[in-house]
Amino acid sequence: MRVIIDRLAKTYVDRHGAAVEALSDVSLTVESQEFVALLGPSGCGKSTLLNAVAGLLPVSAGEVMFESPPSGRPLTAMVFQEFALFPWRTVQGNVEFGLEELGMAAAERGRRARVLIETTGLAGFEARYPHQLSGGMRQRVGIARALAVDPAALLMDEPFSALDAQTRQLMQEELLALWERTRTTILYVTHNIQEAVYMADRVVVLSRRPGRVLAEIDVPLKRPRTEAMQTEPGYLETVERIWSLIKDQARAALAEQ
Ligand SMILES: Nc1ncnc2c1ncn2[C@@H]1O[C@H](COP(=O)(O)OP(=O)(O)OP(=O)(O)O)[C@@H](O)[C@H]1O
Ligand SMILES: [Mg+2]
Repeated sequence: MRVIIDRLAKTYVDRHGAAVEALSDVSLTVESQEFVALLGPSGCGKSTLLNAVAGLLPVSAGEVMFESPPSGRPLTAMVFQEFALFPWRTVQGNVEFGLEELGMAAAERGRRARVLIETTGLAGFEARYPHQLSGGMRQRVGIARALAVDPAALLMDEPFSALDAQTRQLMQEELLALWERTRTTILYVTHNIQEAVYMADRVVVLSRRPGRVLAEIDVPLKRPRTEAMQTEPGYLETVERIWSLIKDQARAALAEQ
């Protein structure tokens, strides 16, 4: 399934009635089976864009279209920036949540959830509650919950930003391995340039708020990705190129603080 974002704009009205222009004229296409990273400074509208694609947010202008959507599968599922698990549900209960929403029968739901719990390395933790898990495990639950419904496109909002560096590296490896098997279309939000280049086929760089597309950069690395590629010239050059693109934006943002 292709995801076509066409001239999208979003203006919020804040508590005081003032307009906050979050996105302005964003156009972007994510190809079927493509892994696209969406990179941009804090507050540039990344979550807004993802929420709009997920249909969780009314937009001010433009539209999101899904070309050749598969039948019988949800269009999208989201892994949220904050883990957003239900604290009163166990791991199993959290992973089953989306399946309940789809009206799946209990036995099938349980079976499906167990497969995803296995896949995401959570076996043995089915009966635990979120507060009994480490940050890395909580995020696995978020990923398992999203994958359980078998979405045509997976939307991930800075899924690993709250994790320590080592856990993040491990989770990146696991997500890449999972994606190699499933090739689910992914739109992955991050503000980490290295992470974007290491994981994605293409990096879309957003400007400061209101977010606009500054550049789209193809990543010249083969699949499957390996850690060793992080020393290859193609990787280093791409990171450098993106950094020089957003340096001015970052400087201007700092000056405003
Ligand atoms: N409900 C809302 N009402 C008013 N303004 C909002 C609302 N939600 C977001 N904003 C503003 O819109 C802009 C974009 O927010 P958004 O959360 O999409 O950015 P982001 O790129 O995801 O930021 P971060 O990197 O911090 O997650 C910000 O200036 C934010 O303060
Ligand atoms: Mg955000």
